[in-house]
Amino acid sequence: MPKNNDSKVLVRLEGVSKKYQSGSNEIVALSGLDLEAREGEFLSLLGPSGCGKSTALNIMGGLLKASEGIITIAGEEMTKPRRDIGMMFQQAVMFPWRTTIENVLLPIEVFGLNKKDYVAKAEELLEMVGMTEFAKSYPWQLSGGMQQRAALCRVLIHHPKLLLLDEPFGALDEFTRETMNQELLRLQSHSGSTAVLVTHNISEAVFMSDRIAVMSARPGRLIGVIDVPFERPRKPELYGRPEFTKLVVQAREMLGLA
Ligand SMILES: Nc1ncnc2c1ncn2[C@@H]1O[C@H](COP(=O)(O)OP(=O)(O)OP(=O)(O)O)[C@@H](O)[C@H]1O
Ligand SMILES: [Mg+2]
Repeated sequence: MPKNNDSKVLVRLEGVSKKYQSGSNEIVALSGLDLEAREGEFLSLLGPSGCGKSTALNIMGGLLKASEGIITIAGEEMTKPRRDIGMMFQQAVMFPWRTTIENVLLPIEVFGLNKKDYVAKAEELLEMVGMTEFAKSYPWQLSGGMQQRAALCRVLIHHPKLLLLDEPFGALDEFTRETMNQELLRLQSHSGSTAVLVTHNISEAVFMSDRIAVMSARPGRLIGVIDVPFERPRKPELYGRPEFTKLVVQAREMLGLA
């Protein structure tokens, strides 16, 4: 039975396995994955390509069903997608016939809430990511980075308790990606949401996270957890600190790369 007695844990995966059927082959993507994200923390899932990170995240978001295991959100067993979870993927899915602000307000419409009540919030979010002048622009008038900024506003519009981020800035150049990561950290700490970020970039995981869950190659399971004790807000100078490098090396060793 799911545990209800631990209020500090928002998401818990216990013994989660996932098998995919691919033609006559069975692919075991995850096997016995145990994982937890605590309330308000920034957790990264770090592991090699194909180890099942996206699979694990989609299971947490209720988009995929686990083959085995238990998933709980705030002590409740997860059975279907929930409104208090926001997901963001590598490619921003923006509707081309809607302006930026209308794209940001999309979840409000989908949830059948009153859009008028959320316009000010949408404007505030767009301002926070420097997009005020582009509120009335269409997606094709925006750069990739700007589209992801808008997608970040959209995922935050309904104040989700849990943010699930699957390499949200993976398609962006390194410079934009770093700026976006900073913005993400700022917005996440402002909103108080719990964040789970999928990445295969080790220094990004160290820079962003409170804890890093390191996963093995497929079938993915947890190899270990690295605590990242650096103060917040995180500043780019952190990349040059010896303590930072030490954690990067620790993660590399866990992954068998050192
Ligand atoms: N719908 C599917 N059908 C069959 N196999 C799948 C499906 N989705 C994923 N897989 C397989 O499951 C494994 C894990 O995939 P997943 O996308 O979760 O990995 P990942 O860690 O996110 O990889 P990456 O870092 O490259 O995004 C891979 O071997 C993949 O081929
Ligand atoms: Mg993936």
